[in-house]
Amino acid sequence: MPTRGGRDRRTPDWIAQTRTDVTERELTATTTIARSPSVLQRPSDAGIPPRHDRPWWRDAVIYEVYVRSFADANGDGIGDLAGVRARLPYLRDLGVDAIWFTPWYVSPMADGGYDVADYRAIDPAFGSLAEAEQLIAEALELGIRTIVDIVPNHVSDRHPWFVAALAAGPGSPERDRFWFRPGSGPDGSEPPTGWVSEFRGIPWTRTTDPDGRPGDWYLHLFTAEQPDLNWEHPDVRAEHEAILRFWFDRGAAGVRIDSAALLVKDPGMPEVPEDPAPGGHPIHDRDALHDIYREWRTIADGYPGDRVLVGEVWLADVDRFARYLRPDELHTAFNFDFMTQPWDARRLRASIDSTLAAHGPVDAPATWVLSNHDVTRPVTRYGRQDSSFAFARKRFGAPTDTTLGRRRARAAALLTAALPGSLYIYQGDELGLDEVDVPLDEIQDPMHARSGGVDPGRDGCRVPLPWTGPSAPFGFSPRGATADAWLSQPAHWAELTASRQESDPGSMLNLYRSALRIRRAEPGLGDGPLEWLASPPDILAFARGKDFISITNLSSAATPLPPNGAILLASAEVSEGHLPPDATVWLRPDRDEPTDPARRVPGDDR
Ligand code: GLC
Ligand code: CA
Repeated sequence: MPTRGGRDRRTPDWIAQTRTDVTERELTATTTIARSPSVLQRPSDAGIPPRHDRPWWRDAVIYEVYVRSFADANGDGIGDLAGVRARLPYLRDLGVDAIWFTPWYVSPMADGGYDVADYRAIDPAFGSLAEAEQLIAEALELGIRTIVDIVPNHVSDRHPWFVAALAAGPGSPERDRFWFRPGSGPDGSEPPTGWVSEFRGIPWTRTTDPDGRPGDWYLHLFTAEQPDLNWEHPDVRAEHEAILRFWFDRGAAGVRIDSAALLVKDPGMPEVPEDPAPGGHPIHDRDALHDIYREWRTIADGYPGDRVLVGEVWLADVDRFARYLRPDELHTAFNFDFMTQPWDARRLRASIDSTLAAHGPVDAPATWVLSNHDVTRPVTRYGRQDSSFAFARKRFGAPTDTTLGRRRARAAALLTAALPGSLYIYQGDELGLDEVDVPLDEIQDPMHARSGGVDPGRDGCRVPLPWTGPSAPFGFSPRGATADAWLSQPAHWAELTASRQESDPGSMLNLYRSALRIRRAEPGLGDGPLEWLASPPDILAFARGKDFISITNLSSAATPLPPNGAILLASAEVSEGHLPPDATVWLRPDRDEPTDPARRVPGDDR
């Protein structure tokens, strides 16, 4: 019997141990890496003809690859770079402009690779640095740029800096790169603050001093295996600037910045105020972050070709969000406001309007994101009574109608592809995959354990992709694989394999392909203005330029379409000139006979 792939779970008592197998070479590797002149200053866009005179990232379609679940070439049950290389033609045929790779660096995988032990080396389970360079080059040949994921808020507890900090003991300069603090309470046995972890629970872990006695605590906003860096420290800044250069030198066209609004902390470590003023939260959205991103922008702008900085910024306040997108800071940031909205026309429209209104003044393109490796798949989300998304509300066993959800996810795919700005597609959404109920004994995501088992965690959207064939692993791993896929795939995915969908003109995959082909060809799509058309409140109808109209029906009845438009694409069958519920249609209006003389603009009273 093959064994299930994936890494051993970490022992909980690792903290007290100092890793003995870290060599001097490893300790210095991060600062003395040799640069091969042949790879320096690789272009990020060789051979990709510009489609217009604006930078590519303003309207790019960016596909998120979660490496360990994309495709496994060597049969160990874990996706790898060779698997991605073999599937690049699939991504070209899908019509994407860029790939964002979730972290592919050396990592103990305590948080799916967001615990990085070496930012300049590829995890051996995924491949090698030479292969990553080859992958970047091969993708470029197919017209696809590469965005790498940078994790600046924290490192792995196995990162040489943290290993050294634990070993060096209290008060050492090595510890200044992190947040070590004495505990509170008479014997220091209480955490230094009452803060709450982003993954629930206490964001502090107590260390053991070299003499074996309980020592200081260190801060980790996520798991204990992800100690937070101290961004007040010059080494931390210099190191990350060097990491950016390392990947830009290798042809990365951009970086996705993990947890971008969390890096800076108030060194005074005050409690979180009841109702913090903007910038007044001790760990979120602190004003000093902007100086860091101005530095990074200077670095990105110093490279030929347009290199993009994409922030993972979770902030409810859209104006504070837009501050990260000022012209000398990040180029774009994920629009999670839209992603968290329920399937409700008024809420979606309000989110579209506030998004566009916030991005306009800073002249940054909006981004449209239906999902990613952290959230419930849209097919599942939109098939639930509460179709909004919130981490705090994730529970096992929520009743789901995936037929309804898939229908809405199709409509949502066309809606988002028609909105102004750039578009993100999370791997498998183009196949209409549903969120998987991962068996308890397979769950690896630390969010599950840290919630006391209440939150199913994020593995349900990270199940290895089904490529072909009637049974697991559905071509994810090759024939003769030595291990099962690291998470088991449900049997019903036999209906959803890429190869099966390729030959079905009505499939989700072919809907995505057609949508991206049209999006690329239509001058009105991508970056540019959006004009709302008068419509009942549960219909979203807008024009992009003179020649393109998108209509989404979120009502419960079929709605008549304008009489003279030609249908470019529809997410469901349009019959007798009516668009059914939970569907989107793209139309070419008849110019001689204006489809709607009463065009409205955002903010119009209705
Ligand atoms: C981001 C990542 C998520 C990770 C967390 C900590 O939110 O998307 O997967 O767990 O940061 O790095
Ligand atoms: Ca593999």
